[in-house]
Amino acid sequence: MPARCEFPHGFLWGAATSAYQIEGATTVDGRTESVWDHFCSTPGNVHDGSSGEPACDHYRRFREDVALMRDMGLHAYRFSISWNRVLPQGRGAVNQKGLEFYDRLVDALLEAGIQPFATLFHWDLPQSLQQQGGWVARSSVDAFVEYVGVVGHRLGDRVKNWITHNEPWCVSILGNQVGRHAPGVRHWHSALATSHHLMLSHGAAVRALRSIDSAFQIGIALNLVPAVPASPSEADRDATRHFDGHFNRWFLDPIHGRGYPQDILRDYETDGRLPPNWQSLVRDGDLLLIAEPTDFVGINYYRREVIRSDKLSEELNAPRTVHLPSDDQKTTMGWEIHSDGMFDILHRVHLDYAPRCVYVTENGASFDDVPDAQGLVADVDRIRYVRDHLLAAQQAIAAGVPLRGYFLWSLMDNFEWERGYSPRFGIVRVDYATQKRTLKQSARWYREVIRENSVD
Ligand code: FCB
Repeated sequence: MPARCEFPHGFLWGAATSAYQIEGATTVDGRTESVWDHFCSTPGNVHDGSSGEPACDHYRRFREDVALMRDMGLHAYRFSISWNRVLPQGRGAVNQKGLEFYDRLVDALLEAGIQPFATLFHWDLPQSLQQQGGWVARSSVDAFVEYVGVVGHRLGDRVKNWITHNEPWCVSILGNQVGRHAPGVRHWHSALATSHHLMLSHGAAVRALRSIDSAFQIGIALNLVPAVPASPSEADRDATRHFDGHFNRWFLDPIHGRGYPQDILRDYETDGRLPPNWQSLVRDGDLLLIAEPTDFVGINYYRREVIRSDKLSEELNAPRTVHLPSDDQKTTMGWEIHSDGMFDILHRVHLDYAPRCVYVTENGASFDDVPDAQGLVADVDRIRYVRDHLLAAQQAIAAGVPLRGYFLWSLMDNFEWERGYSPRFGIVRVDYATQKRTLKQSARWYREVIRENSVD
């Protein structure tokens, strides 16, 4: 391995967050409930009984947070917009105060020389739309387009990079089949209808954004999980095919114009997971709309899965890993640390789908950070994790992957969905009692990486 691994000139160094995980201020300035506010209010849904209130109070402290980003030398910042802040009823009346917050944030970023990458949907559907069926209802597509139009018109003079959806797999499966995420539904048919409407709304949003400015750079962020069979047996290989199809190809194929993978449609139909009205859910022209050309694919990479056919996940009714890495090979999420998997997935997407441009839109790790008396955290595990993944990214570039940037998850510790506040993913520590921010050692290290455009 060379001593210094240089990244291409112009490589974009970023960090990522999402609205519900950091903003707080959930009841101010006309903001209404999202499905996540609602989900968190049911005891038992979130491990520590917490919610996105107050999270990092970023709504009020964003200037301080942008100053930290500038201090670290970030080139780009990926954040998400809260639909229910902008359109409190999901459609119709626009809440100017909500839009003004994003105006101020974008202006502060640009002033600091940081490119905004705005995610339009990072899981927080307005609760009012959920009451009308949520993503299971096809009308959600029109609602999304309306919202995207409002945001695109308002911010589009300054925001040039857009991500339509974050991780549609999680919204579909974790939210509507496993029920571990909002809206907490447990129904395969709802989950697959949701996934179709998310994909459809992605395509429709790409069109809507292009009609505002044809120069926008638009993509989607998918959580992709490379899967390997635990043995060469036919059964393990077939289980791996299914896992990959269910997790990765179900989204990658249609956005690249290939429709839904036939083998997975067959699997779903065979075991009753496919909605009986699937043929009428997927209407003429839908697949064309989903395949609306984009400018980049965003890949969120955290882990791989090792698949054994004889182990079905009870929740998913699907084959799932039984590979149990030791504690020092896992993050506190229980996710295996496997940086080669990042090379594998980047390379595979490049070979199989040939997108023009790829970003790693999320990658990072939660560890048990131990602050000293000054709140300083020597998070060497996180540094090792990010460094190894950057080396994998660099190998992917050397192998021809058009990888143009990397967004570390996360800028700061935040509300980690159903796990509450105990997982800490940030390179900035947040003391939730005082809201004090402190750069961890990883943030200082990342600043050097950015300055040198290389990893040692
Ligand atoms: C991803 C989510 C992000 C964060 C990380 C840890 O699945 O997109 O919001 O929770 O995981």
